[in-house]
Amino acid sequence: MQVSDSSSRILAGLLEARTGQQLTMSRRWRIETALAALLRERGIATLDELITILVMGKEPALSNRVVEALLNNETYFFRDRTPFDLLAKHALPLLAKRRASSKRIRIWSAGCSTGQEAYSLAMLFAEDPAAWNGWTVDILGSDVSTSAIDRARQGLYSHFEVQRGLGINQTIRWFEEHEGGWRAVEGLRKPVRFQVHNLLELPPNPGEFDIVLCRNVLLYLNAEKRTLAFERLASAMASDGWLMLGAGETVIGQTRKLSSDPKARGLYRLTDAAGESSGEAQPRTAQRA
Ligand SMILES: C[S@@+](CC[C@H](N)C(=O)[O-])C[C@H]1O[C@@H](n2cnc3c(N)ncnc32)[C@H](O)[C@@H]1O
Repeated sequence: MQVSDSSSRILAGLLEARTGQQLTMSRRWRIETALAALLRERGIATLDELITILVMGKEPALSNRVVEALLNNETYFFRDRTPFDLLAKHALPLLAKRRASSKRIRIWSAGCSTGQEAYSLAMLFAEDPAAWNGWTVDILGSDVSTSAIDRARQGLYSHFEVQRGLGINQTIRWFEEHEGGWRAVEGLRKPVRFQVHNLLELPPNPGEFDIVLCRNVLLYLNAEKRTLAFERLASAMASDGWLMLGAGETVIGQTRKLSSDPKARGLYRLTDAAGESSGEAQPRTAQRA
């Protein structure tokens, strides 16, 4: 099946309008692979036929499915590892002191895909019960893709997905065998909730998070949308909270609201908070973007 320039432009336009994501040339070449299963399922013979249906606008559910098929959902447990060590060794010990009176920590994994990032965070807490016993930890995973969030909620992963990032000990401890794959145990699912959400819109409840992760999501947004996304993320951070981006991503040159944490490379803070001399700052009301 050949993808004409006009077809790929229409599909790329649909994806960008809904999610802000631009379809890179390398992904344009894979449009037909990405959409093949959907076309088969719906009995649609060609991409042109699909586009005619989309343009007529009579099947909003179909256009959602197309957008979801075009999104890049690549993820795995403890992706890139080092960022999780940074959270465990730097951010979480500081939060344990700063939130000692409320004993509540809120984390937002924005663009969580099928949930591995959120469950990896849950493992950080579950594996250190001495530190977190008696605390309320809320981990919100959100994604613009309904099908990704449905999968995340199930907490059900194939052998291949579990092996990508988890050793045998973690697999056996936090997952139980389930219909040819592995399901996150109740204790791991309890602190985690999932929600469909577009990060270009207002942040989800409760609107203020101690740690926000937005990794490998902003890469293909145009400059204007990326700035908007940073504003949304900044507006969702507690004044002494952190933002974590993906490997190779940065706030530099993208927004003034966020700055590198001078004490932890790879973490970002609200610009007003970044200059604070003490790591023991008390929470203040978050500055709204
Ligand atoms: C490459 S995955 C990254 C998943 C995870 N954060 C990681 O690093 O492993 C990017 C995810 O961002 C989601 N996404 C793209 N645009 C989005 C938007 N505007 N709002 C929310 N999620 C979005 C995609 O659906 C996809 O699941």
